[in-house]
Amino acid sequence: MDGNGRWAKQKGFIRAIGHENGTKSVRETVEACAELGIKNLTLYAFSTENWKRPKLEVDTLMRLLVSSLKKEINTLQKNNISLKAIGKLSNLPKKVHKELKEVIESTKNNSRMTLTLALSYGSRDELLNVVKEISYKVKNNIISAENIDESIINEHLYTQNLPDVDLLIRTSGEQRISNFLLWQIAYAELYFTKVLWPDFTQQHLCDAIIEYQNRERRFGKTSEQIS
Ligand code: IPE
Ligand code: MG
Repeated sequence: MDGNGRWAKQKGFIRAIGHENGTKSVRETVEACAELGIKNLTLYAFSTENWKRPKLEVDTLMRLLVSSLKKEINTLQKNNISLKAIGKLSNLPKKVHKELKEVIESTKNNSRMTLTLALSYGSRDELLNVVKEISYKVKNNIISAENIDESIINEHLYTQNLPDVDLLIRTSGEQRISNFLLWQIAYAELYFTKVLWPDFTQQHLCDAIIEYQNRERRFGKTSEQIS
């Protein structure tokens, strides 16, 4: 979800207004995905690198997060959506952590769609964690080095219960991954749009999905093998 700051600047507002308007696009996208029958939606809300932003902006984002969680819990319940979070959650301010845990707990039995928020998330941090945990288990003879395979790595990722990414959408015209789900996007279809996140609507989501549906996913095979 990129482009909140530029959206605000274009309109002569402070960056916080961009973030606030970005929350509308979050609600619209979440509801549209649920209605379309998408089972998993992951939103990159705050990266490990975003902690380096000015304190005022970080505080604003954290405050917005708490107020959105409080405000959206009813929407999640109404739409039968369960909330999850990935990232170094212990780095989040106590208030955010507490609110997040409450919403995760109260929506855990919802089954229509899983909405995962990547918060204080960085893929390198996640992979470092995986290496540390697996090394520890090897050292203590819980698993043997020879048996390490992709499924063991998957089990140690923050995303352990989520499938690989099918479609990755990045808004605002930037064409980079920025430390997001590097392992999990190995065969994802990438979609870049110039639309700034606060302007992103259900129609833009549908445009991305239609393009995705017209891609041929070969997973390394030939076209003939796929058809
Ligand atoms: C995305 O918008 C929101 C977060 C990263 C939290 P940006 O804040 O990155 O907006 P730009 O890139 O400055 O336009
Ligand atoms: Mg940005």
